[in-house]
Amino acid sequence: MKHPVRAALAACAVTALMAAGAPFDAQAQTKVGLLLPKSSVYASLGNEIDDGFMIALEEAGMAGDFTIVREDTEVKPQVGVAKARKLVLQDEVDVIVGIVSSGVLAAVRDFVDGAGVPLVVANAGNNNATGKDCSKYIVRVSFSNGQINRPMGPWMAEQGIKKVYTMAPDYAAGRQMIEAFTETFTAAGGEVIGGDFTPFRKTKDFGPYLTKAKATNPDAIYVFYAGGEAISFVKQYDSFGIKSEIPLFASGFLTSPLYVNAEGPAAVGVKTGLHYIPTLDTPENKAFVEAFQARFDRVPSEFAVQGYDAGRVLVEAVKSGASGRDAIAAALPKVEYVGPRGPLTIDPATNNVVQNIYIYETVAEGETLTQKLLGSVANVQDPVNGCAM
Ligand code: PHB
Repeated sequence: MKHPVRAALAACAVTALMAAGAPFDAQAQTKVGLLLPKSSVYASLGNEIDDGFMIALEEAGMAGDFTIVREDTEVKPQVGVAKARKLVLQDEVDVIVGIVSSGVLAAVRDFVDGAGVPLVVANAGNNNATGKDCSKYIVRVSFSNGQINRPMGPWMAEQGIKKVYTMAPDYAAGRQMIEAFTETFTAAGGEVIGGDFTPFRKTKDFGPYLTKAKATNPDAIYVFYAGGEAISFVKQYDSFGIKSEIPLFASGFLTSPLYVNAEGPAAVGVKTGLHYIPTLDTPENKAFVEAFQARFDRVPSEFAVQGYDAGRVLVEAVKSGASGRDAIAAALPKVEYVGPRGPLTIDPATNNVVQNIYIYETVAEGETLTQKLLGSVANVQDPVNGCAM
């Protein structure tokens, strides 16, 4: 089925060009490969990033300046590489936008770097992509896995939590998120007394892991799960009776507004850290939430904002006169503005975004679940992590 908004945008763009009497000039277009999961555990994340991306082009009145080719990574590294090759070699895109999984990003990195095609990372947090494997062609507007989790260590220690058990899916993102939390939590005097990495994309029953975690008698459990796995985990945490005994903390994707309503009351009281929540009380965020809600009839999540910011940095780069792969790659990291999540800049030493991290609690407000801001850490910036560009 055709996406109604995308179809409408495309129709508007063509009508506007015809009304202006302009010939349809393919050369004036920037060709974008949107490389996102449209199936498997992160499909909803991919669709949300896509929607946010389209809002940025439309807001700028530039939907007609971009040709978009969409490919599904299926959250599989080798599929991601095959699709990236197709976008570059067959479709000849000027820029790739997207990638949700850290595993897919690791697999695609050498190809985009070698081909000299700019990649705007709109989710995947793999630290290495803006660390030891950084590239002048890779710019990340989403987050790094370390950046999201580091602030939670000292914050939880301040709440008097001493012993924590951790859980995450067994792939690069899960390992890096838990590693970052463990580092700062132990530096703040806490102790990680055990943990599990669950088979990624395959674990349906978290029961055995939760039983094991409970037996260690921790003060809290800290996890990273996202998408379909987050929904299953949060529901099972409640239904196995652990929620009433051991508080749950996480990186904020666990209770993303994208799927928190599917988790339902089980998500209430979970405390997490993230780079965006839709309840931020700023004029930039209010305008974005209003525009997104008017278009899609739902509250935007962090994934929508990542898509929006990927679109916006690209729009700004093109507006600055950049055309073609090298010029776009050079212009992208120079873009900065205050957006829905707050100030957004790109660190020239790594090409990773510098941004605020918000600590929030999922609370019930009438029939709906929403995000209550508990604290924030301004301008969180990654160490250079071996990046030499
Ligand atoms: C990742 O694989 O880097 C990843 C996936 C989903 C998230 C966050 C990070 O929500």
